[in-house]
This record gives sequence, C-alpha cells and structure tokens, in this order.
Amino acid sequence: MTISTYLTWPNRDQLLVARGETEYAWVDPAEQSLLGPDIAEVTAVGEDAASGVVVCGDGLDALEALVARGTLRERSIRCVYIDPPFGTGKRFGHYSDALAEGAWLSMMRDRLVALRPYLARDASVWVHLDETMSHKARLILDEVFGADAYVATVVWQKRLTVESRTAISSAHDPILVYAPSGQKAWKRTRNRVPGGVEASNRDGDPRGPWRDAPFTAPGYRSGQQYVITNPAGHDLLPPRGRSWFATEPVFRRLLAEDRIWWTKGGAGQPRMKNFDIDALQVPSTLWNGRDVGTNDDAKRHLARLFPDADTVFDTPKPEALLQRILHIATNPGDLVVDLFGGSGTTAAVAHKMGRQWITSERLVETVASILLPRLELVVEGGEAGGISESVAWRGGGAFDVLQVAPRLGQVPALKAVLRTRADALRARQAS
Ligand SMILES: C[S@@+](CC[C@H](N)C(=O)[O-])C[C@H]1O[C@@H](n2cnc3c(N)ncnc32)[C@H](O)[C@@H]1O
Repeated sequence: MTISTYLTWPNRDQLLVARGETEYAWVDPAEQSLLGPDIAEVTAVGEDAASGVVVCGDGLDALEALVARGTLRERSIRCVYIDPPFGTGKRFGHYSDALAEGAWLSMMRDRLVALRPYLARDASVWVHLDETMSHKARLILDEVFGADAYVATVVWQKRLTVESRTAISSAHDPILVYAPSGQKAWKRTRNRVPGGVEASNRDGDPRGPWRDAPFTAPGYRSGQQYVITNPAGHDLLPPRGRSWFATEPVFRRLLAEDRIWWTKGGAGQPRMKNFDIDALQVPSTLWNGRDVGTNDDAKRHLARLFPDADTVFDTPKPEALLQRILHIATNPGDLVVDLFGGSGTTAAVAHKMGRQWITSERLVETVASILLPRLELVVEGGEAGGISESVAWRGGGAFDVLQVAPRLGQVPALKAVLRTRADALRARQAS
C-alpha cells in the first residue's frame, strides 16, 4: 500500500483480515497472498442468467475470491455504495459495531484499497456513515482515492421525528461521495435527477403546470441592472451583489408572454415560470426523508416482508435512497458493489433497476434469514414494497450465492444453515 499518511493509528501498516465470523486479525501485507480465501458455490436463485452475486463472507475476502473466480474484472465497477458499521461502539441486534477505532480505520481502508483496481474510469464511491467517524473516514478516502476525488457530502434526512433523549437530536446521516476520476470528469457521465419542487398551476395558465425560479443571477452584470416595477407599483432593483436574470428587453418579452410570476400577490419579487416540468436538475446535497425515505420507512418495509420476525433488522436503508444514488451514479447494465450487505437493500434496488450487482455480508444468520429470503422475493416478484411500484417491478432475473471462508478461523456453512431452515419450514407446514 503506497499511500500518503493523513492519519495515523496503531498497526496502520498491517492488513486487517477476517477471523471467524465476527473477529479480525492484523497480518503482515507481505504474507497475505499465502492466505487466499476458500470459496464454495452455495446455490443459484432464478432461472435466467445471473446478474447478481451474494457472497456470504467478509468483504475483503469476497473481493479476492470473486477476482479468482473471474466474476470481478479490473475497471468493471461503476458504483460502490457501502453502509458499514459506523464505529459507534454499539451492539445492534444483528451485528456488533464495537471495533476499536484503529481496527475500524484499518477495516475501512483495507476494503477501499482492495476495491480501487476494480473501479471503472467513471466510477463513484458512496460511503454512508454517521457523524461518529465521517471526519476520519474522509481522511482515509482522501488517502485512498486522492483529495481531488472528493465530490460532496450528501446529507440524508434519516428521521422526521426528534430523539428527546439527546442534547441535539441527530436527524441526518452524511454520505461521502468520491469519484476517483475527479468531480469534473465524473460530472460528464453522472445523471441528473427529476426536479425537487412539485409543479403546480397557481394561476390557471392554459399551458399547464409550472415551477417558478428566482428572476436573479449571481454577480454584478451591468446589462442586467435596471428598475422593474411590480404590479403593486413598487420599483425594484436586483438584491445587492446580484443581477436580474436577463436583460430588460428579455424581461419585457417574458412579461408579455405571461412568463413572470410575482410573489406576495403582485407586491413582491418577480419569479420565472418554467413550463419544462420534466427538466432534470443537478443533484444537490440535501436529501429530504419525505422524498427518499427514512430509517423508519425502511424498517416498515422489512416488517411487511417478514411479518413473522420478532425484530427484522436494526439499520436498513430505504430503497428510495438507493434508487436515487443508483440513478445518479449508474445506467442499466452497470455493476454496483456493496460489501456490507445487511438486509440486502442495495442488491434489491440494483436488481429492480436492471443493474448488475455484487453484495457481501459476513454474518451467516443475516444472509440466511434476511438477505437471501428478501432477494428471493424480489426475483419471484412476490413483494410490492420499496421502489417496486415506481419501476413497475414484476419479478425476474437471477443471482448466484457463494460462501467465502475467512482466511483465519471458521464459520458455519451457509449451505447447512439453509438446509436446516428448509427442513424446519417443511416440518412446520406438515404439522
Ligand atoms: C449498517 S449494516 C448495512 C445495512 C444495509 N445497507 C441495509 O440496508 O440493510 C452493516 C452490515 O455489514 C455487515 N458487516 C460488518 N462487517 C462486515 C465485513 N467485514 N464484511 C461484510 N459484511 C460486514 C454487518 O453484519 C451488517 O449486516
């Protein structure tokens, strides 16, 4: 690993590899090739050619095993979205988030470094965290991809309610966005998003619904400094440091065409009426939970999918959030990778949006009880939640399931766990 040091921590020169199902061990990077992970084909779901792969195992082992299997090739990944344990020190029902800080930093750095050679030229990497470690994760990401690769931090509104036990209730998660080609180059291939403001027809315009936008532009432009008189008779100049959006003749033409809307019923500022309501916009950093879902929306979705489960999964993300990310960052057929699969949101959304996908999840129980059953339902078309309605999802497609043994220690065989579950289900149905 030849990367410059922005941040230091104990053992940062070592590689953090998985030991057993939940632990890690530091090893000398020079020896890591001796530890090549062992891979087992578990099953295939669906009749079609597989467009997805579930790997039961640690993300680093999964990447190495998929490269050895020929499934992952250099420069093939268009988008990485990862939602790892945030480094909070908490133990959730389904997984522990109690790694010491140095181990957490190595865990992140090593998996990001391992992904780097497989990123396409126009790839982007989205790292979903909370504020516990996001500032340190930025230094790691700067090291791995270069500080110029930083694009933005998306602020996702994760809850609409206030947590009254806290001093200041945290309502958002930061999602760090990096494009290794640099944001200027990535801007040429990323997609725009549908306009955020609902179109309406407040004046019964026969041309139909419209959105309004300020009739001002940044900076001082001498040709765009003139007096506009509003319907209430007030003379207006552009705000300080700004200009009107267009020259006076253009303003007069727009006024004659009924393309100007006045705030305060005619006593306020001019705004432009825009009838091109399908126009796409540059994505912005503020993502409202009402538009892309909240943590609670994601939990309600899982609870509907698994009505018999006591607790479904603690930290799922809403499908609409992943839909927006994958819409911006990929096109149909592109490969999406998520190394921290959890309940399988990224894979489910990528599948429904016609992307290829790879996801890994370390805990056998999570794969057997949530991730796999959820993705099976997606293929069968047996679930109507999440983004299914918005993409008219009816089922179809296929994916492979593999298990990668950790380099150190042992884990239960997924095949045996699935067989035991199937036997138990058959026995319940028979009784
Ligand atoms: C925050 S959850 C992901 C939630 C997921 N985005 C969703 O919508 O359901 C993190 C997941 O990563 C898994 N995990 C932790 N370390 C891992 C590793 N090294 N490799 C693979 N999975 C890991 C945990 O078991 C947990 O299920």
